[in-house]
Amino acid sequence: MSCAFYLCMREFIVVGHKAVTDGQFSLNDLPGSAGRMDIMCRCVNSALFLSHDLRRDTIIYLVLLGAPGPPKIVRFSGRDVRYLNPDERSSGSLIKKALELKAAVRWKESTPGVWVRQGGLKDVLAELNLDTEGIVSGLYYLHEDGTDIRGEMEGTLYQRTIFILGDHEGMTADEEHIIVNAGARSLNVGPFSLHADHCIIVVNNELDRKNVRKWCD
Ligand SMILES: C[S@@+](CC[C@H](N)C(=O)[O-])C[C@H]1O[C@@H](n2cnc3c(N)ncnc32)[C@H](O)[C@@H]1O
Repeated sequence: MSCAFYLCMREFIVVGHKAVTDGQFSLNDLPGSAGRMDIMCRCVNSALFLSHDLRRDTIIYLVLLGAPGPPKIVRFSGRDVRYLNPDERSSGSLIKKALELKAAVRWKESTPGVWVRQGGLKDVLAELNLDTEGIVSGLYYLHEDGTDIRGEMEGTLYQRTIFILGDHEGMTADEEHIIVNAGARSLNVGPFSLHADHCIIVVNNELDRKNVRKWCD
């Protein structure tokens, strides 16, 4: 008997308004002088980790907007990442290595499965290529006032589903404007305001329950 799995791609974009943009930060002070880098690290963990495996169908983009600037994007791919353990220091150290590279407008791989480039939210949205022919994509903004994820995602099977989240500061009006212009629809994951990393866990679970299709013959 052979089995084939069809796993829809998932992508998360998290905006870290204070998260630093150089590699000088201390792994001992991720929440402080690193500009709430702890939130980014937990988001990486929630996006990519299963109990004894990695989510190979998932990519997470961290949009880092803190000092000293200019903004940078760090991308982790569950399919390719190596040397990542579930603790915050582990993802923090891979982010640090990425930020130690001289970033350009094109992606540079810092360690296997981790890339860095210059750019902010607009840039990451621009390069998603949502109109790629033959790929059906869904773009969502996770927000407390959005439509219930359960109603909206019911019966939906996108080949690629992208979720945008804020950090402890949420999202600015300008950023919301960019997100709406990109065509994102707002979704809520439940009645309470949650931490971004917890939202990612909920979304992953919703997609696990709905979107994974398995064919065996
Ligand atoms: C800690 S919350 C932000 C709270 C922030 N004080 C604010 O006013 O926006 C971090 C992010 O998680 C997401 N989020 C939190 N609760 C949510 C919910 N119930 N449904 C959807 N997204 C949520 C949003 O993207 C939010 O920007």
